Amino acid sequence: MSSPVQTDTRTDAHSRRPRVALVGCGGVGDVHRERLAREQADIVALCDPDADALARMAGLLPARPRLFRTEQDLLEAGLVDAVVLCTPHHLHGIQVRAALDAGVHVLCEKPFVVEAGEAAALVRAARERGLGLFVSFPLRSLGHALFLVAAAGRIGPLQRVTISCGERWVDEHARTWRMRAGGPGAGFLHDAGAPFLDLLLRIVDRPVTEVDAVLERGAFDVDVRASVRIGFKGGTRADVVLLGDSAERIERIQLYGEGGTAGWSAREDAVPDLYLRPAGGLAVSGDPHAAAMTPDAAFIAALRSGRGFGPDTAPDLFDAASALPLVTLLERITRQAAWK
Ligand SMILES: NC(=O)c1ccc[n+]([C@@H]2O[C@H](COP(=O)([O-])OP(=O)(O)OC[C@H]3O[C@@H](n4cnc5c(N)ncnc54)[C@H](O)[C@@H]3O)[C@@H](O)[C@H]2O)c1
Repeated sequence: MSSPVQTDTRTDAHSRRPRVALVGCGGVGDVHRERLAREQADIVALCDPDADALARMAGLLPARPRLFRTEQDLLEAGLVDAVVLCTPHHLHGIQVRAALDAGVHVLCEKPFVVEAGEAAALVRAARERGLGLFVSFPLRSLGHALFLVAAAGRIGPLQRVTISCGERWVDEHARTWRMRAGGPGAGFLHDAGAPFLDLLLRIVDRPVTEVDAVLERGAFDVDVRASVRIGFKGGTRADVVLLGDSAERIERIQLYGEGGTAGWSAREDAVPDLYLRPAGGLAVSGDPHAAAMTPDAAFIAALRSGRGFGPDTAPDLFDAASALPLVTLLERITRQAAWK
């Protein structure tokens, strides 16, 4: 990438109406297209090597965007202030780096990157260049997640957290990049497990001291099931069970604290349950629909404000620096796991 490094943030008019490119026009690209439209952000360019994906996405935008088959061509055209990266995980690192080197702000899809060293280097690079680098963690701003993080503060210290998540992931993603061995970050743990582990880290909010994991491939090339036990400083323990070949989509998160319990339970065809019960008191229900800002809204608002993103900036909810504990944990789980 030959473009010069931009050392100051773009604080002029185009920050207030940032010109955005969607890089990767697949499933989650549509989610960002809709969220960016709600923020009245201009998607002026699309990038995807797949011509059909480009044409489909272009047809859904109100104004015709410029189309690119490679991120390099997109960045060299110098058209955009920001990219939203919606590409397979193994491309995130190289694409974030290229965008930062071109002086462009980045909102990257989860799980950010798959190596902690690379994650830290990218965060440093963004800070040095005064560029925004955010990660789109879907759970962080959802009502039930916000409720559980707040509940943990009320019923702590936490003794135990249990998380189980089942999805029909194998059926839905057979023969896609998600199930191809070789690409770092392939498999159910990095794809569906990452947001739950990220939420766990936010709920417990203590350093990880121990990890014990079993990853199961079964008949497949990548992990489709995971059982992870995590110990935290202060004694909290967590058990996480992730099943990518479940017959139904199920999520259960249970917090056991010395001062009470709290939990979330959701199944496809059932009314979800979200509650907090202080020890000896009555249970109160939470509102799973009380969501906070989406990652896109936070990203666009930060760019529009014209403020900087240097080393002294207060971190945003979706700032990539806040993804470092998760990337470190995922790397540790993958390294230490017994494989079946
Ligand atoms: N936050 C969420 O809720 C959420 C949900 C789903 C996926 N994701 C994440 O989003 C990312 C993409 O997932 P998806 O479901 O949209 O995948 P997808 O396979 O539906 O789409 C990926 C798109 O990227 C394109 N692509 C491949 N190489 C490219 C390149 N070099 N440059 C530009 N585009 C390229 C593909 O052609 C495809 O159109 C993954 O990292 C995934 O973890 C997040």
